[in-house]
Amino acid sequence: MATNRTFTMIKPDAVNNGYIGAILNDIVEAGFKIVAMKYTHLTGGTAGAFYAVHKERPFYKDLVAFMSSGPIVAAILEKENAVEDFRKLIGATDPSKAEAGTIRNKYAKSIEANAVHGSDSDENAAIEGSFFFSALEQY
Ligand code: PPS
Repeated sequence: MATNRTFTMIKPDAVNNGYIGAILNDIVEAGFKIVAMKYTHLTGGTAGAFYAVHKERPFYKDLVAFMSSGPIVAAILEKENAVEDFRKLIGATDPSKAEAGTIRNKYAKSIEANAVHGSDSDENAAIEGSFFFSALEQY
């Protein structure tokens, strides 16, 4: 099952800009099924724990501050080849390099405020999904 699932967050910039509906629509239109979803506001501690893998990187503090600056939408998505297909759908991490038509190309402004997160491996998709959702919350 894990190989058919990925994890995403709609980040504070996209929530604040009113893009939740448009982004979810793009995700569903691309063939992903939403199997878990919640609207929440991360604390600095929770965002720090989620991004702990990046804690030695120079942008870690800014990333944690940004991700706890406003509400987000977290979701688990299901589709064949979910991780890879979702990374294609969202485009490059830096929106200025994201292909036309991708979510980051359409809705993001900077490498920090880049609208959405997408897991980079099946293993991380399972870890990240479980960070937000208990087994009972995953359809
Ligand atoms: S990725 O997607 O893991 O390959 O991208 P990576 O470049 O490793 O970036 C990991 C996450 O860090 C965010 N990021 C930054 N935030 C603030 N400032 C700078 N300069 C910066 N560079 C990268 C990037 O948006 C990634 O967030 P997530 O949520 O993992 O997509």
